[in-house]
Amino acid sequence: MTELFDQLDFVENPLYERIIYDIATQKYSIVEHFFTLEEVSVLRNTLRSRLDDDAFKKAAIGNKLNEVVAKKIRGDYIFWMNEASANTHETTFFSKINNLINYLNRTCFLGILHKEFHYALYPKDAFYKRHLDSFQNDDRRKLSFVCYLNDEDWQPENGGELVLYLNENNVETERVVYPFPGRVVIFESQIIEHEVKPVKTERLSITGWLKTR
Ligand code: OGA
Ligand code: MN
Repeated sequence: MTELFDQLDFVENPLYERIIYDIATQKYSIVEHFFTLEEVSVLRNTLRSRLDDDAFKKAAIGNKLNEVVAKKIRGDYIFWMNEASANTHETTFFSKINNLINYLNRTCFLGILHKEFHYALYPKDAFYKRHLDSFQNDDRRKLSFVCYLNDEDWQPENGGELVLYLNENNVETERVVYPFPGRVVIFESQIIEHEVKPVKTERLSITGWLKTR
């Protein structure tokens, strides 16, 4: 029954409406329980099995020459997800994402045509310095989407908080977001600068982008 409702994306969806309102008014939205703890748990297991396959690569920004610089900017390992070869848990993940995209396109004419998602693992002491998610020569990233896959007993003291740098009435303010499991953060890729503070214990997530043509 729930699955049937998930597919009825023409029914007004209060959760999606709130996300749209948040983004329109403040350029970001934080959603608790976007994914259930059960969904988070199986995605976490999938991440770990990908890790066992040694599929994670040191995340690099730019090319090899930049590698030394890159380590000072970010220390996470990433693994790109492939919808075509997704397992059942990843398929559930993508169907929720696709529902959201359909809703955004239908109600807001956002024109999201592409998406890309990767798992991310921050080992102890890793961080990602303040940055913007849009690359030079590529302004197609419209919305950034981060979903946390940490254990249910994740504590704020573990660090690894996401900090969004907001502009409120021309005053820069910081919005601190703890990476609790099931929580999703969506923000405008080309507007909101952000950073991930150093983690004290391993931090797991899925990050992705909804992109225009
Ligand atoms: C990123 C990023 C934020 C987070 O991967 O670009 O900013 O909280 N991630 O993991
Ligand atoms: Mn980012």
